[in-house]
Amino acid sequence: MKHSISAPGKVILFGEHAVVYGRPAIAAPLSQIRACAEVRLTDRPLTVLTEDIDRPPLRWPGARPDSNDPLERMTAIASQFFCAAPIKGEIAIRSNIPIARGLGSGAAVSAVLARAIAALLARELSPDDANALVYEVEKLHHGTPSGIDNTVVVYNKPIYFVKDRRMDFIRIARPMSLVLADTGVSALTRETVAAVRKLYHEQHARTQAAFDAIGAIAERAGRSIEIGDWAGLGELMTENHKLLQALAVSSPQLDRLVAAALDAGALGAKLSGGGRGGVIIALVDGDTSQPVQRGLLAAGAKNVYATAFGLT
Ligand code: MEV
Repeated sequence: MKHSISAPGKVILFGEHAVVYGRPAIAAPLSQIRACAEVRLTDRPLTVLTEDIDRPPLRWPGARPDSNDPLERMTAIASQFFCAAPIKGEIAIRSNIPIARGLGSGAAVSAVLARAIAALLARELSPDDANALVYEVEKLHHGTPSGIDNTVVVYNKPIYFVKDRRMDFIRIARPMSLVLADTGVSALTRETVAAVRKLYHEQHARTQAAFDAIGAIAERAGRSIEIGDWAGLGELMTENHKLLQALAVSSPQLDRLVAAALDAGALGAKLSGGGRGGVIIALVDGDTSQPVQRGLLAAGAKNVYATAFGLT
């Protein structure tokens, strides 16, 4: 038996960080970048091979649920979930999602590993159960994750998300084009989430006010997306970026790329994900995508990707 499984990367459109504190946020899957797994039944104990991820293969036995290694933790908790040990077979994982750029690489790899283990065991894994398993592993990447990354990656649809309370699929009124630009700087979400938590304790009122303003923006952005008001959405994006600056999760490179996108005619731009590195997103219309991509490269972006949502 050979079985192919995949999961997309993701982009946070609005509300990162504030979402950890119960404010709404919006995220969408990035189907061009993906993690994939191939599964092969063998009669040997499970081996998990990783091609583009710099790490040694994982071999059963030895998977511990409290491991700090995300693949090992997923293997162990999935084996507990299915009451199956040892698992036999081979899983080969590949991913072209850049690592530590806020693009959901960790969640996508965990999602394909969970589904690959289910396939090896010939068991069903519902999206809700896959989401719960991936969330457990996200705790390693994020410390106190809101759950938005695993949710958007597992359900593979744009979502409006409020931690522990709400997850709605968003209908995008008409095609929405984005340019993503990578600073080339790796940043660990766990560290930026911890830095925001420190600020939250040290400057409570100011941080709460920023979270409230970000939450109000995400709410308005949800309505703009549903009616296709891209001019309004762009303004909300740029306002969201300023509030992320106030939370000290931007960086000179991110600010430079946001300014370059706006100068080149983007409707709005902001950092996306944990910040202090990773990517910015810029909302563009058909005519501005190319100039914005050129402007971003000229301003030092290491890579640009054009993507669109709501095409079906
Ligand atoms: C990371 O993609 C988004 C953050 O809000 C963290 C989280 O929600 O867990 C920074």
